[in-house]
Amino acid sequence: MKELDVQIIKLFAAQDGFLSGAQLSKSLGVSRTAIWKQINSLRKQGYQIEASPGQGYKLIHKPDRLTSSEIKAILETQLLGNKVIYLEATDSTNDIAKEHGKIGTKEGLLVVAERQNQGRGRRGRNWHSEPGGLYFSLLLRPRLSLMEVSTITLLVAVSIVQVLRSDYQLAAQIKWPNDILVNNRKLCGILTELSADPETINYLVLGIGLNCNTKLNDWPAEIQAIATSLSNLLGHQIQREKLLNQILVQLEANYLAFINNNFAKLLPLARKFSCLLGKTITINTHEQTYTAKAIDISADGSLLIEKPDGQRCNLWAADVSVRQ
Ligand code: BTN
Repeated sequence: MKELDVQIIKLFAAQDGFLSGAQLSKSLGVSRTAIWKQINSLRKQGYQIEASPGQGYKLIHKPDRLTSSEIKAILETQLLGNKVIYLEATDSTNDIAKEHGKIGTKEGLLVVAERQNQGRGRRGRNWHSEPGGLYFSLLLRPRLSLMEVSTITLLVAVSIVQVLRSDYQLAAQIKWPNDILVNNRKLCGILTELSADPETINYLVLGIGLNCNTKLNDWPAEIQAIATSLSNLLGHQIQREKLLNQILVQLEANYLAFINNNFAKLLPLARKFSCLLGKTITINTHEQTYTAKAIDISADGSLLIEKPDGQRCNLWAADVSVRQ
């Protein structure tokens, strides 16, 4: 049985007009006093609920906050989000998910934060986490080898691009391995962190940062020059809890297919969505910077490149950019 607030939010979502106290109390099997108390608690959380004698309650406005009640009321997944932690502010949702990884929390945990004080990107970079974005981490425990696991970041990127293309009509692309771009500007980044023994993965944390309702002016100038947000692209604010549900539904389907099968089904999509293939790219590793042609994405998720001398090799991790 879901919590009362989750159930009331669900009923409001399904109804445009008033819901009478009697109707609510009958549908949810609790007293009218319990309903009244819960309505007041929702009001304290920023929900504007009109009460009219004889008619009941009507939801006028809900806050743009990703509370765990809002998330639970909308989630249509089985595995991802089977437990939800919502935080107004935290250093990094990945850190919270990792702590849960260490103490044995089962796979599927979703950690969402409104703001991150020390959001992290790849290679120790800072991830600006202003309010209005979608910042979340998932804890997984896949029974995969370390080699297989390297495709998971790409699997996440494919899932998000599928949603952005089909539900938001955006020509999103993947900049291998972990960036999602629209019009060559970064919309979303993925940070995969894991704990493993030589043979087994103990846990895996997928951290996703998506610029949703972020105002471009809230970013420092250097970020404004290279990033974008959904509200900026679409010209209106989006419902973050709806987007989160769409992503998790798609990701769950792809993840389960991947666990039971392999990456083969998703590979054509990873290739189709790539903004690198066929282009000359600049590659930055910890050791060197060089140019090469991006040839293909391989079944193991690596990027096949061809160097100017014709030599081909696969990359599993690097920073790449398209040479202008
Ligand atoms: C990148 O582009 O380098 C990856 C960015 C990942 C950001 C997300 S926001 C949620 C999670 N928590 C973090 O500290 N980082 C990831």
